[in-house]
Amino acid sequence: MPLVNMKDMLQHAYDHGYAVGAFDLVSLDFLQGIIDAAERSHAPVILSLAESHFEYFDFELIMPAVETAARRATVPVAIHLDHGASLASAVQAINTGCNGVMVDASAVGFTENTHITKSVVDMAHACGVPVEGELGYVPGVEGEDAERHPGDVAYTSLEESTAYVEQTGVDFLAVSIGTVHGRMKGKPRLDFQRLKQINDALGIPLVIHGGTGLSDDQFRQLIANGVAKINYYTALSDAAAKQIKNNINSANNGGYTTLLENTRRVIAEETERCIHLWGSAGRAAEILAQCEAWNPVEHLIIYNIDGLDNHGTKSMISKGKRILSAIPGVRKVFTGEAVKQDASFRYTWLVRFCHPAVIDSYREHPDHISFADNMFRPVAGERISIDYLALDSQPDEVR
Ligand code: 13P
Repeated sequence: MPLVNMKDMLQHAYDHGYAVGAFDLVSLDFLQGIIDAAERSHAPVILSLAESHFEYFDFELIMPAVETAARRATVPVAIHLDHGASLASAVQAINTGCNGVMVDASAVGFTENTHITKSVVDMAHACGVPVEGELGYVPGVEGEDAERHPGDVAYTSLEESTAYVEQTGVDFLAVSIGTVHGRMKGKPRLDFQRLKQINDALGIPLVIHGGTGLSDDQFRQLIANGVAKINYYTALSDAAAKQIKNNINSANNGGYTTLLENTRRVIAEETERCIHLWGSAGRAAEILAQCEAWNPVEHLIIYNIDGLDNHGTKSMISKGKRILSAIPGVRKVFTGEAVKQDASFRYTWLVRFCHPAVIDSYREHPDHISFADNMFRPVAGERISIDYLALDSQPDEVR
């Protein structure tokens, strides 16, 4: 159960004056270190996967591990796509297990950003998934020196942020008020006045990117002015790199595992420091009691085929599998044939939706309608169809 609705999680943080850490992970050491810290602190946590990091790991390979870690945790967890580059990225992330997505169209102008973000919001909300948008520009790249990535901070404008939230319907807004991704160049100066005005005007959870390098007092002021999600990566990466360098210096004859020793521990220590500083420690039980559990729905159809030979049936099933798997919110399409010849129903579809909202959006999706009306219903007269909400989704059921 501890995978929870991220909108509920961040609303709780916003209402109670603390921030949840969204820690970007690039390996199993990061994943385990972040979860260890959240468990030790009894804190909610967001496991964040940045599209700019997908060159370092295979997103589809790591996601089952991320989801397993989330589902077996005892603290509330959400899984988030960080800096999604397009609508297609957001669909892929949701279908692979993210239950929050960020669309980052902040590099294009206001009108285009609004247009792209709205298309992601329409798709994601139809899957029950909340969306983070960004207005203004936070320069730099996670894990790199900010000074190596040119571009000035473009501050979020108050007028634009009101129009952007109204027109797109985003659930959370990432604001640019002086932070940069990666290591800070000099002492960061943050525009708290601007943040306060945006928070007063919008009244939705705000997000800060570029958490590395801010002072304790800056974090406190950010949270006091509506920041409920803080993105954090470079400091975790630096802590791991420092540990690896120490291991290299002290290991006489060490191999791969010797050189990586204790990286998970130092990642956990830095994560735990942030969790305590940002006020999310000890909040797990309240969130579990108050937030929607993120459990899938199984859309089950059992049916008989009339008017197609074996080859035609298998071809219809494989086309259907390809078409239906691509519909937003579909986690998995299982197809099967009865083991016993005399079964009352010969075939089955088991379509896993990420959230109950997908029952309607899937039924109304043009690709589903076209497949069902033209290829499936004409030959599958006899059928039973039922949607089941998973009562308790265990790690081994997730994929
Ligand atoms: P830092 O790498 O500066 O902590 O920022 C992380 C971030 O904003 C990810 O989106």
